[in-house]
Amino acid sequence: MRPSFIFLGFVSVALAARPFLNEPDTAIEDDFGDLPAGALPDLSRIVGLPDFNWVARRYMNISAYTFYRTGSAGEWSYRNNLEVFNRFRFRPRVMTDITNIESTLPTTILGYNFSAPFYISPCSRGGLAHPEAERGLVQGAAAENILYVPSLFATLSIEDIAAAKNASQVIFQQVYLDSNDTATQLLFDRIERSGAKAIVFTVDAPADGNRHRAARFGANSKQVKSILLNTVPAVLTLLHSLHDELEYSLITWDIYKQLQTMTTLPIIIKGIGSVEDARAAVAAGAPGIILSNHGGRQLDGSPSSLEIALEIHEEAPEVFTQTEVFADGGVRYGTDVLKLLALGVRAVGIGRPFMFSNVYGKDGVVRAIQLLKREIAGDAANLGLGDLKKIDASYVKWTPNHWYG
Ligand SMILES: Cc1cc2nc3c(=O)[nH]c(=O)nc-3n(C[C@H](O)[C@H](O)[C@H](O)COP(=O)(O)O)c2cc1C
Ligand SMILES: *[C@@H]1O[C@H](CO)[C@@H](O)[C@H](O)[C@H]1NC(C)=O
Ligand SMILES: *[C@@H]1O[C@H](CO)[C@@H](O)[C@H](O)[C@H]1NC(C)=O
Ligand SMILES: *[C@@H]1O[C@H](CO)[C@@H](O)[C@H](O)[C@H]1NC(C)=O
Ligand SMILES: *[C@@H]1O[C@H](CO)[C@@H](O)[C@H](O)[C@H]1NC(C)=O
Repeated sequence: MRPSFIFLGFVSVALAARPFLNEPDTAIEDDFGDLPAGALPDLSRIVGLPDFNWVARRYMNISAYTFYRTGSAGEWSYRNNLEVFNRFRFRPRVMTDITNIESTLPTTILGYNFSAPFYISPCSRGGLAHPEAERGLVQGAAAENILYVPSLFATLSIEDIAAAKNASQVIFQQVYLDSNDTATQLLFDRIERSGAKAIVFTVDAPADGNRHRAARFGANSKQVKSILLNTVPAVLTLLHSLHDELEYSLITWDIYKQLQTMTTLPIIIKGIGSVEDARAAVAAGAPGIILSNHGGRQLDGSPSSLEIALEIHEEAPEVFTQTEVFADGGVRYGTDVLKLLALGVRAVGIGRPFMFSNVYGKDGVVRAIQLLKREIAGDAANLGLGDLKKIDASYVKWTPNHWYG
């Protein structure tokens, strides 16, 4: 009896040692827990990106919050996106001159200058967080000179978002496409007229995501979809289907090659999940690829972008120089950004934290950008980097530590 008791005790302690924490405990409850629901803490007291999740969860209604927060099925990929970073430890260096690190944050994306190696990922329905909807995101990005990629399923139209841009601001437009060439051409022409500098073609969602959490709160319902459909061309409905039956989009490499002849804009491929497809994208002439599992909202069990980047690093490292490689999913801290950059990722996309920060409108988005820039610089300095561009895979020990997720 006794040995097995000891054994069971050990197991429960081991399990208790690593619960999944959607919002890590940094005493935010102690700081703001007394705020009435519906009140927003003073923005100057928001200390990091996870705080925006806490704030939005209490501020937005359950169906709106859930639409942003949801992953698919048991949310294992969503969790993994958050936990995977902590499975790899840094290999910090000391006694290096790190005093100019901040001046090395700016980077280029497809040749355009930005102030930092991260951008706002395309997320639908900015209007759920704030009446100004995507204006907060596009103007926050302008104020801090980072890239914003509006979703095709934004609350505001492509034209309204373009009208809210800073005169010199570069944005890229995300699209979902089906195989109606006429409709695709109309959409591409519309995007060119709007002044967007590139198209981001999402390919990891050829069928509806199986989102249990969202379905429970009606955030996947016909009603929600019909709201969306009023704001986008009627033909582009397949991904967020009108009907309860599953619908599918036809997306192939041949179609991608044909799309490239239909616009002068570069077409980045979003949703690459394997080294094979990274190679295929290079072969198809993609100017950029985004490693992503759609924030864990599509195929549960799909790898996080850090795992995909590691696979490419090990099996086809040349990809990182053959095309511009971006990555998103679960990035919440400066250290997460550093681990992706270490593998050769050029810039990192962030979705939910910016959508949640937009409950404050533009000011919240600006605060989120400033906090993350500060973390990247400070973390890089503590890692011993004098120049962010000089980070490489040797700054991380790539043997996974399975205790933490
Ligand atoms: C509320 C929400 C809506 C999204 N809508 C889109 C979309 O319309 N198009 C798209 O390509 N990706 C969409 N995504 C995925 C994001 O572009 C991105 O891949 C993901 O959010 C990154 O993970 P993160 O939220 O953990 O940062 C959406 C994500 C969220 C959270
Ligand atoms: C981008 O930055 C570089 C270096 O600072 C500068 O030479 C170049 O003119 C900038 N390009 C644009 C389009 O602003
Ligand atoms: C939740 O909030 C959104 C955005 O403000 C609003 O459109 C929606 O009607 C609200 N839903 C409920 C059930 O209150
Ligand atoms: C517009 O962009 C420029 C260049 O990044 C920046 O200097 C300026 O502050 C921006 N203006 C606004 C209103 O965001
Ligand atoms: C394709 O798109 C065009 C333009 O929106 C539309 O008129 C046409 O009906 C669509 N064709 C099909 C088969 O849906």
